Amino acid sequence: FVHQLADESVGMDELLISPLRLEPEASLPLPLDLYGAGRRNSAGLDLTVEPMRAPLLAAYAATALPAVPEFDVKTTSSAYQTSAMSYQKWSKTPVHERSAILRRAADALEAELPRFCALMVKEAFKTWGDSVAEVREAADFLRYYANEAERIMVPVALPGPTGESNELRLTARGVWVCISPWNFPLAIFMGQVAAALATGNTVLAKPAEQTPAVAFEAVRLLHRAGVPEGALQLAHGPGDTVGAALVAQPGIAGVVFTGSTEVARIINRALAAKDGPIVPLIAETGGINAMLVDSTALPEQVADAVLQSSFRSAGQRCSALRLLCVHEGIADGVIEMIRGAAKELVAGDPADLATDVGPVIDRQAWGAIRRHLERLVSTSKPVTVIEDSTQSATNPIANLIPPSAFEVAAVADVQQEIFGPVLHIVRWRGDPAAVIDQINALGYGLTLGIQTRIDSRAQALAARARVGNVYINRNMIGAVVGVQPFGGEGLSGTGPKAGGPHYLARFCAEQTVTVNT
Ligand code: NAD
Ligand code: ALA
Repeated sequence: FVHQLADESVGMDELLISPLRLEPEASLPLPLDLYGAGRRNSAGLDLTVEPMRAPLLAAYAATALPAVPEFDVKTTSSAYQTSAMSYQKWSKTPVHERSAILRRAADALEAELPRFCALMVKEAFKTWGDSVAEVREAADFLRYYANEAERIMVPVALPGPTGESNELRLTARGVWVCISPWNFPLAIFMGQVAAALATGNTVLAKPAEQTPAVAFEAVRLLHRAGVPEGALQLAHGPGDTVGAALVAQPGIAGVVFTGSTEVARIINRALAAKDGPIVPLIAETGGINAMLVDSTALPEQVADAVLQSSFRSAGQRCSALRLLCVHEGIADGVIEMIRGAAKELVAGDPADLATDVGPVIDRQAWGAIRRHLERLVSTSKPVTVIEDSTQSATNPIANLIPPSAFEVAAVADVQQEIFGPVLHIVRWRGDPAAVIDQINALGYGLTLGIQTRIDSRAQALAARARVGNVYINRNMIGAVVGVQPFGGEGLSGTGPKAGGPHYLARFCAEQTVTVNT
């Protein structure tokens, strides 16, 4: 290590020693349980969900996916009228009352955690660990935006000349269209809706067509908590018909969208082509997220962060690591650790508490990832490829893609977001700033990991990177509401950041009132 430091021309005083991110209940030293990193005990049980085993499995047995009626696009105009009428009352409801309703919904959601987890395991094939985390994130969004609305929706007195008073007020805008993806069918759906409702807007909510049941139950829960039915209506159906009809509806006050960059562009064009007022779009989209590892990084920490970031949630997170850029001086060791640890992962039935990696969302996604893997097999060097035996009679879990990793020649070889458990690895040498420039040149800007023990370098690289969320010496997924405001730039989105202090203002109109006293 001292030799590596000499190569890097840095002194000991510049060292940044970050502790390994072990959970408090960690029972195994790294690298034995790299992926679990304390999540599993020596019997292989997932410690985050094991204490909830009985209620989770009982809920799984008792929960059926509801049949969700499809929205008829011919009713778009009348759904809008209902929402606009409800807006008259909801926007005038005092912010404390609206926030109290959202807090009640958060309490109810936590009380119903096992049932919502079961819905997500059944409908989105989430693991239990991911499902528990998602219910908590959805409750966090409800409470955070309830608090934020109370903070920002009070008039602010501004200084002015004698004989004049000035006040800035934030007000609701009207009817918002909320369009969400399947990969966080509860948290992102709830986050968008809660933000719009907290600020006094009313909502037409279009969930992903793959996960209507989770959204349907979320809407029912919000109605039970006190959100008027007209203030929140569900419009389930295909994006290119139902989603497009909502976006095209005259009179809407804004669109908040989370999903692919391609669909964000379609919506942006549709809004730009409309007559009438200019309609704001908040778009949070995908990324080709990289992790830069220099020669001073701690290999065990890198391997742990890589496995969590690339393969957790079957790689179906917008934040997931797609491209590992590792210094050639430590690449062999790091790659060997990743290979060994990846083989320990349990890919299988999401209903099984021991499963780390569940299936991808549907056959179409499975096919797209498989085609990419076939290209990689013929053009790149495999690091770890776990054979797909999952379609055999003995293991009939549909749409499972076991984690895999491949070495590619250059950063520019990865030009497309592959939404699954596939990692691309590039070796680099020379100036790490040049690697950041290559990553910036991809045009996305969502998450970036940096692994180095040189503090000044970590800060300089973070400042150079054009991304929304930088994670230094840890994994790069699982942004916490109010702690790591989340969202990107460039091809990754318009901002503002979800779960951050500037989010709600974008759902509001601003009015300055000047009184000649
Ligand atoms: P998608 O873009 O295919 O669909 C997202 C939503 O848009 C769905 O509800 C869909 O029905 C709707 N839609 C599709 N066509 C439409 C149209 N013409 N008009 C209006 N609505 C339309 O995305 P997906 O496959 O559901 O989700 C995966 C993508 O989401 C990935 O690219 C991922 O990176 C991204 N994502 C981003 C974030 C973030 O916060 N940045 C979070 C999660 C997912
Ligand atoms: N907010 C999610 C994460 O950080 C997408 O992983």
